[in-house]
Amino acid sequence: MFSTLSAASLALLASSPLVSAKCQQYVDAAVTAAANLQSTYFVNGGYGSQQPWIGAVDSFHLSELDDLAGVSTYSNVINTVFTAWEGQLDNGNSYDDVQWVSIAYLRAGNLAQAQKYYDIASTAVNTDYCGGGLFWNGNHDYKNAITNELYITTSGYLYDVTKNGQYLTNLQTTWSWLKASGMMGSNGLFNDGLSNVNGVCSNNQGTQWTYNQGALLPGLAYLYKYTGDESAITSAWGIIDSIIMGMTINNGLREPCESTTQNFCNADQQTFKGITVHYISWFLSVSGRDNGSKYSDFLRAQADKVLQFSVGPAGFYSNLWYDSNAGAATWTASSQASALGALIAAGQQNC
Ligand SMILES: *[C@@H]1O[C@H](CO)[C@@H](O)[C@H](O)[C@H]1NC(C)=O
Repeated sequence: MFSTLSAASLALLASSPLVSAKCQQYVDAAVTAAANLQSTYFVNGGYGSQQPWIGAVDSFHLSELDDLAGVSTYSNVINTVFTAWEGQLDNGNSYDDVQWVSIAYLRAGNLAQAQKYYDIASTAVNTDYCGGGLFWNGNHDYKNAITNELYITTSGYLYDVTKNGQYLTNLQTTWSWLKASGMMGSNGLFNDGLSNVNGVCSNNQGTQWTYNQGALLPGLAYLYKYTGDESAITSAWGIIDSIIMGMTINNGLREPCESTTQNFCNADQQTFKGITVHYISWFLSVSGRDNGSKYSDFLRAQADKVLQFSVGPAGFYSNLWYDSNAGAATWTASSQASALGALIAAGQQNC
């Protein structure tokens, strides 16, 4: 299914900003949040005990901030993060994780590394199990939303940079399968994955994480940009509307594991909201298709919630965005990076 690129196309990579609009008040807050993230949590080339995929997500946020703030402070973070983890990731045991790494490398301008990790993910493509899509990991016994949604976005992003048609084909094949897979629940939100009972595949009713709704949105924007497929916009708007309808309290994004009184979210889960809002911004930028100002309003509202409710020591942010802390708030590398994602996403909109 996947064919490698010619050496000639490797030379074509131009690292250009994904987003140009800018709302300075959020950019300023993001600059401080990023400095605190790096000075407090980034030690010996990693974010403490956090998994490398979180480091890749953080690298992506930071590369975007570089462009937004007009600096190049963080362009080397991705290289530093992955020196230590490369061998483990090369085993290809997490086909979602390698795609966060691919996206981070591509955003930092390293096409060869982006393709290397994309190619590892591509080995998970399979049609025998549930009719298509990618396996989650090397056990080859589960197909889930995040791995397949990321493949839609990673393929779109690689197509945008290289114009190699195989990437667009991979995007379309995976999206066609995902749409028909049953992974989306009746509330318009993707559950975690599929169950497979004697070859009969269906929605496993697993948790509807916020990032399961955000991860594919840039891919749908690229699909629209390069094919004019209006249904990609209809689908993306439907998903974002479902997020606003089903995953917020008082219009503030809430991860399903969150309450105001006790924290039930682990480091992975504390990372999800920042991805979701940043990827909505990425979708808006590539597609140019907001519905009025509904979705940019939503992004500004999330940053305002962070600045109102997630505060701790100046420039440090907790995981709890949607309401005042009543005991649940926790200040971690993940909560800091997630808040950074929200501030960047709002900074990428007009004020
Ligand atoms: C745009 O948003 C408005 C307000 O939420 C909604 O009524 C309308 O249906 C949306 N348009 C589309 C095409 O989804």
